[in-house]
Amino acid sequence: MTRHFIDVDDLTRDELADVLTRATDLKERTTRGKPHPELAGQSLAMIFEKPSTRTRISFETGMTQLGGHALFLGPDDIQLGHGEPIRDTARVLSRYVDCVMARMFDHSDVTALAEYATVPVVNGLTDDAHPCQTLADLLTIQETFGDFDVSVAWVGDGNNVCQSFVRGAAMTGIDLTVATPAGYEPDDGTVDRAAELGAAPEVTNDPEDAVEGADVVYTDVWVSMGQEDEREQKLQAFNGFQVNADLLDGQKVMHCLPAHRGEEITDAVLESDDALVWDQAENRLHAQKGLLTFLG
Ligand code: CP
Ligand code: NVA
Repeated sequence: MTRHFIDVDDLTRDELADVLTRATDLKERTTRGKPHPELAGQSLAMIFEKPSTRTRISFETGMTQLGGHALFLGPDDIQLGHGEPIRDTARVLSRYVDCVMARMFDHSDVTALAEYATVPVVNGLTDDAHPCQTLADLLTIQETFGDFDVSVAWVGDGNNVCQSFVRGAAMTGIDLTVATPAGYEPDDGTVDRAAELGAAPEVTNDPEDAVEGADVVYTDVWVSMGQEDEREQKLQAFNGFQVNADLLDGQKVMHCLPAHRGEEITDAVLESDDALVWDQAENRLHAQKGLLTFLG
């Protein structure tokens, strides 16, 4: 059966550990300049309905470093953006490439791709999930603290990045508290799934309570891609949820990027030595190479 990576828990705990071990090994080889053409001759199709810096560049350079090739397929590049059905796109791409990565608005569009593709489909972010980000986040936490015996406070929107992190935290034993404004909590399906995986996060509407005693504070933008029309409403709702010097007390800080300085996080916090964000961004490359070799 074709394996897909639509959310983190498409992997078992052991497989997740395997992907992270591969990532660590590939990072070492990359850093030392040792060639590692494990996917020589393979192609990755990358479908993007939304913009991207990290996801696009880390997948594209990752495939090159693995000896393969990646194709950037933006909204206007393929017939999908002009009405060709997802199922037809999935079937045809499967005849050419070895793996498909897709960044789409509707989560159900990525699951539909996976249903009809006969090669692995990797979720490169939907409105509901961002599992590739979680892989990099877990790698960063493991590198920084040595293990997952870590307490993380999520402060901000409980949507895609948060929801995949909730699953990843449950799978690794990270102690997670999620603080969002009322109405912006992670969805019930995510919290229920985390409980099934071993640990539902504590969910609160109080950021100060959440960060107390935490090792890490993690945030994300308040206005996600595709939510531009909700901007004013969201800025109001998230008032009091900024990650700034007043909220923090020596915690490390994570952010998936891009950041909107002055909104969810201050310039000073992002520029501080406590920010793990540049390691997180770099680890997108290594974690996804680990995933690609696992799926390959
Ligand atoms: N974190 C992340 O996915 O960044 P991009 O939107 O730049 O890909
Ligand atoms: N929540 C953000 C994450 C970007 C990587 C968005 O969906 O725009």
